[in-house]
Amino acid sequence: MLATLKPKALFIGYGHLAKSLISKKLLSLLNIYALNSKSELKDINLKKKIFKNNYTYDYVFLLTRPKTFLSTGTQFQKYLSKDTIVISCMAGIKFSTIEQILKTKKIIKIMPNVMASNNKSQTHLYLKNKKLMSNNLIKLLSSFGKIINVRNEDQINLATSVYGSGPAFIAYIVSSFVKASKKLAKPFNINELEVLELFKNVLEINTTSKMLDSFISSISSKKGTTQAGVNYIKSQKIEKIIYTTLHKAYKRAKEIDSEQKSAKTK
Ligand SMILES: NC(=O)c1ccc[n+]([C@@H]2O[C@H](COP(=O)([O-])OP(=O)(O)OC[C@H]3O[C@@H](n4cnc5c(N)ncnc54)[C@H](OP(=O)(O)O)[C@@H]3O)[C@@H](O)[C@H]2O)c1
Repeated sequence: MLATLKPKALFIGYGHLAKSLISKKLLSLLNIYALNSKSELKDINLKKKIFKNNYTYDYVFLLTRPKTFLSTGTQFQKYLSKDTIVISCMAGIKFSTIEQILKTKKIIKIMPNVMASNNKSQTHLYLKNKKLMSNNLIKLLSSFGKIINVRNEDQINLATSVYGSGPAFIAYIVSSFVKASKKLAKPFNINELEVLELFKNVLEINTTSKMLDSFISSISSKKGTTQAGVNYIKSQKIEKIIYTTLHKAYKRAKEIDSEQKSAKTK
């Protein structure tokens, strides 16, 4: 698409998540500008600084931390025209709060994750006004990976826990397994890549939780090595620990919005 015909998007905040959303595909669909904490504006397609903001944007992506938006978000009103669609990627911030702070109703909430950089984000999407969705918007959000539509705003908080923060929890669990294997294997060297491949292989042949459960039973012969380990894991209530981990992230997502409001009224 000709650069002059492409819609313009402003990324307010250009940190970890924002950078992971940028791909060749997205750059082919949009002219992207990014704003940082010093109000410096950068043309991402042309990789250069812009000294004057002459644009009205078709899309404004909210990519600052929630706290930043709640404390200084009103200053972002100036980047919006009556047609601008606001796409919030922020954890916890409610629709109604964005409406209030930015004085617009053209809002879409999405919860992508940093795997968008590999087109692997399972992006959850919530909107009140279905008319805001266009083929163009579907195309550009699909550049992050899969889109999963949800009907209830609270489902975005759940997605924040499982899909937004979840990759870090999974990385922690896998990394712990690798470290423990290495520790056990000392003084022999264990090939880290082989251990990581083991995770991929287990998931490749077991594609449902039911399959994983029967996979465990099929390896756990009575009084065998697997049973010794599995019995220990079960006794440590791993499932409860993981539930609590996810619940803490979910609860935190729900707290963020109200926490700031109460701080303002103090
Ligand atoms: N990271 C994830 O995996 C993930 C996943 C899902 C959702 N999210 C959501 O995405 C948002 C950003 O997270 P992140 O991890 O990318 O945070 P981050 O790396 O800390 O990035 C925040 C960005 O906001 C910029 N910023 C701060 N104040 C600003 C202001 N007044 N005006 C314009 N820009 C400002 C910062 O600019 P400087 O560079 O100048 O400091 C920085 O580029 C959060 O709301 C989070 O809930 C993150």
